Amino acid sequence: MKSSSRSLKLGVNIDHAATLRQARYPGIHQSLLAEPRIMEIANACKKGGADSLTVHLREDRRHIQESDVRLLAKERPLPLNLEMSVDSAVAAVALDVIPDDVCLVPERRAEITTEGGLDAASLDNSLRPLVARLRALGIRVSLFIDPDPAQITAAADLGADAVELHTGAFSNVCLPDGSQNDCAAQQLLRLINGAHHAHSLGMQVNAGHGINYFNIIRVLEIPYLSDLNIGHSIISRALLCGIETAVSEMKIAMSRYCGGSERVSQHN
Ligand code: PXP
Repeated sequence: MKSSSRSLKLGVNIDHAATLRQARYPGIHQSLLAEPRIMEIANACKKGGADSLTVHLREDRRHIQESDVRLLAKERPLPLNLEMSVDSAVAAVALDVIPDDVCLVPERRAEITTEGGLDAASLDNSLRPLVARLRALGIRVSLFIDPDPAQITAAADLGADAVELHTGAFSNVCLPDGSQNDCAAQQLLRLINGAHHAHSLGMQVNAGHGINYFNIIRVLEIPYLSDLNIGHSIISRALLCGIETAVSEMKIAMSRYCGGSERVSQHN
C-alpha cells in the first residue's frame, strides 16, 4: 500500500539559543545587552522556512525563561509548541499563554537533555486532568513517548491529539559513517511500527530527538509523519552558516518526504 505524498513540518527547537544567552547573562536575560535575542532567532527560523518554534520551559529554567515563552506567545512569529513536564508551575504558564501545542515530556533535573519518553502507561492520574485542561483551551496535546505499543495505546487512551515518537534510541546508533547499521535498522523498525500504531488509533504522528542532517534521510522512512522537532543539530550548524540557512537546509532535506511510502506496510 502506498500513502499519498504529504508535506512534513519542521518545528525548530530554539532552547540552545537561550542556553548561550544564559551562559553569559544569567539573571539579566531581558536586558538589551543579552544576546542572542530570542525574537531575532525566532524570526530567522521563520525566514528559513520553519513551520513552528519549540521551546522547553524546564523546571530549573536552565535555558528558556518564562519571559521568553510569554514573548513568543504574544508576538507569535510562528505557531508555538511548548514542551513541558507535568510540574504545576510550568503548567500554569501554559494554561495562561495558550501555546498552539503542548508536548508533555518527562523531566529529570540531572539529565542533559530529555532522556527517555514519558511513561504515559503509568502516569494516568497526573496526566489525564492536565491533558483535558489543555485540550479544553484548544491546545493540541502531544505526549513524548518511546515507540512502545503500550505507551502509544496509553497516549490514545489519555485523549492526546498526537504522539511525538522519541527518536533518541535510533539517533544514538545511526552514525554518519554508516556503522552499526543493524542497530539503527532495528530502532527504525520500532519507529515505523509505532507510527502505524499511533496512526491507527487516530493520533497525529510527530517525531524528535537527535535528528540531524545525516540521519534525516532514514527518519523519512517513518510513515504518517506530521512534524519533526529538531534543535541541537540545527543550532550547531547555524554556528557555521547562520540559522536561516541551517533551517532551510533541513527543510530541503525534509522535502523528500513522501509519507514514508516506500516502507508504509507494517513490519514485524
Ligand atoms: N523533542 C523533544 C520532546 C525534546 O525534548 C527535544 C530536546 O529538547 C527535542 C525534540 C529536540 O531534540 P534535539 O535537540 O536533539 O534535536
